[in-house]
Amino acid sequence: MRIGIIVHSKTGRTLALAQLIEKRLKKLNHGVSLHHLTIDPDIEAPNKPFRIVNRPDIAPYDLLLVGGPVWAFSASPVILSYLKSLGDLKGKKVIPFATMGFPCACLGGTRALGQMGKAAAANGATTLPGAVVPTMLRDHERLKQEAADKIAEVVG
Ligand SMILES: Cc1cc2nc3c(=O)[nH]c(=O)nc-3n(C[C@H](O)[C@H](O)[C@H](O)COP(=O)(O)O)c2cc1C
Repeated sequence: MRIGIIVHSKTGRTLALAQLIEKRLKKLNHGVSLHHLTIDPDIEAPNKPFRIVNRPDIAPYDLLLVGGPVWAFSASPVILSYLKSLGDLKGKKVIPFATMGFPCACLGGTRALGQMGKAAAANGATTLPGAVVPTMLRDHERLKQEAADKIAEVVG
């Protein structure tokens, strides 16, 4: 399967998760390309204007993995805006993923995955279950490995 991983990451944590997922999927012999979205200006909070500088062409991919940090109990505005801008996603599968500061997915992570999944589905994609990795008070490294395992299993 041809897989595109598209990630917004301000401080590198979600990018590290994306790189781990990339490695895992390559081991399963999938063709995988990772795209790190660049924005201008590099905003530090939601509700600020930004422009996505690099817009990866998703045409070659059967499956998109889209991820970003949880911001203000919601999905990254960057990845959400990117997803909404993609237009017709009929025939494509989308798996959302996120990292977050708080220890419980209930504090924005689950909502963020839902928002990304909904945005993809609104453009005609089939949304598959994703993964969220919390940080504070948790073994982030272990949870990151588990999330990559879970996503590899969903991809098959
Ligand atoms: C503006 C802003 C808002 C945030 N809001 C939340 C939040 O609501 N819940 C949460 O768990 N973490 C929140 N965080 C923390 C990030 O989700 C967390 O540090 C994430 O792992 C960073 O990912 P990155 O390194 O890929 O940017 C917020 C961070 C920023 C900068």
